[in-house]
Amino acid sequence: MTATIIDGKKISEIVREEWKERADKLKAKGVLPGLAVIIVGDNPASKLYVNNKIKACHDVGLHSEVHDLPEDISEKMLLKLIDELNQAKKINGILVQLPLPKHIDENKVLEAIKQDKDVDGFHLYNVGALMTGNTVFPPCTPFGVMRMLSYCDVPIAGQNAVVVGRSNIVGKPMAMLLLQEDATVTICTSKTKDLISHTKQADILVVATGRPEMVKAEHVKEGAVVIDVGINRLESGKLAGDVDFDEVKEVASMITPVPGGVGPMTITMLVANTVMAAERDSGNSPSD
Ligand code: GUN
Repeated sequence: MTATIIDGKKISEIVREEWKERADKLKAKGVLPGLAVIIVGDNPASKLYVNNKIKACHDVGLHSEVHDLPEDISEKMLLKLIDELNQAKKINGILVQLPLPKHIDENKVLEAIKQDKDVDGFHLYNVGALMTGNTVFPPCTPFGVMRMLSYCDVPIAGQNAVVVGRSNIVGKPMAMLLLQEDATVTICTSKTKDLISHTKQADILVVATGRPEMVKAEHVKEGAVVIDVGINRLESGKLAGDVDFDEVKEVASMITPVPGGVGPMTITMLVANTVMAAERDSGNSPSD
């Protein structure tokens, strides 16, 4: 079997168009959705992600602003900026790009963001809402994966879904969203014994480990849908996912490439969460 390649770039453009229409409806009523992105330090990968997020906001016609802070900014100054953005009328969504420098308490920063503006879905309130099935802002990467699966008509209820990786940003919320749609969910970690025995059961396999090309053909059941969340720079300079694409595409029924798979979806779902935040703030429902 050679897998169908899931074109994340194309799907994200189509989905982005849906959100542009919702943003246009708001704009027609005088509401311009706004996103503030805070980046601390000079991490080149973070800079690239932030540029892509801002570009997506421009494409959809949202207001966006970047607060580019030096590596040695104090936690107090960062919290002060968040407080100002929490109160800013033209800002509906606030995103603090992670990771933060070691001298800053990440949890404290994420808790400082007003929960109604937490478009990343990382505030404890939103994490709790996700756990109880009352999701307000689904974290953008897992949200993007779910949208991609629905676009591709992948059945979820009753399917075996295996998530490899247990990060707060991807693995855990991914498992919750799959569970919410009645998948039978297994989460594997770097300590999981006999990883293959778990991944081989997966009808849907989501890999988010940060370990380049670790998932091989032998890990994958014939016909599985394989979603690769990883993005790694190899020594050769080439970008690679956490899945060995060339091997696994011969076993899977559908697979996401890297780049051009999950990455563009993450950014589109940030636009979605920002538009949703603006709809809520302004008391406009999408059907108005
Ligand atoms: N760093 C890596 N992924 C993300 C993300 O989805 N949101 C934020 N804020 N930082 C990240």
